Amino acid sequence: MPGAIGFDIYGTLVDPLEMNEHLRPVVGEKLADRFSELWRNKQIEYTFRRALMRRYEDFGICTRQALVHTATVLCVDLTDEEQERLVEEYQSLRPFQDVITGIEALKSKGHTLVAFSNGVEVTARVLLDRAGVLEHLHGVISVDDVKTFKPDPEVYHYLTRRLGTETSETWLVSSNPFDVIGAKAAGLAAAWIQRKPDARFDPWGIDPDVVAPDLKALAEIL
Ligand code: 2OP
Repeated sequence: MPGAIGFDIYGTLVDPLEMNEHLRPVVGEKLADRFSELWRNKQIEYTFRRALMRRYEDFGICTRQALVHTATVLCVDLTDEEQERLVEEYQSLRPFQDVITGIEALKSKGHTLVAFSNGVEVTARVLLDRAGVLEHLHGVISVDDVKTFKPDPEVYHYLTRRLGTETSETWLVSSNPFDVIGAKAAGLAAAWIQRKPDARFDPWGIDPDVVAPDLKALAEIL
């Protein structure tokens, strides 16, 4: 039965670790991968802490503050111009190669397809437009509207309200286990996109309904 699908963006539609390419000339070959990973992990940690503390600042601020912290931790002096350029590059990430084909295959089955992200809607739209993905989606829904972050149950309930669907007929699709577990705990159906074969899901006993390596494989299942 066709349903409604909310796609996580960072790590699911586009790859934040692509930032390694932009970091190499700034932080050097040796540090780039570690910098990129710490930046991503700190960015997500800040969203968890801010949601728990009820001290919301939007995803762009969490991204920027995580960048500054990572540079301090790794003893990298970033000029303001380098900081601005890196934050700007974060809005120009490429889509994974399966994304557009997979989205179109899911659309041909009658599903309603939206991006569903921690990112502020206007930023998410710029990113998805530059990635050539926006035109293939029915919409973009941001947790910024409810001033909290994934995996707060409120954001998943907001997704179903915006889609006008029951939780049980609403799918969350994400490569991030915290997002999949959050959606399942809120009553939604959820698919984990296991983009790396060695990626492991958290042993919480809250498991995805579907596991697929990419969106093309997912379209064969949903
Ligand atoms: C998202 O796109 C941060 O990956 C998370 O909502």
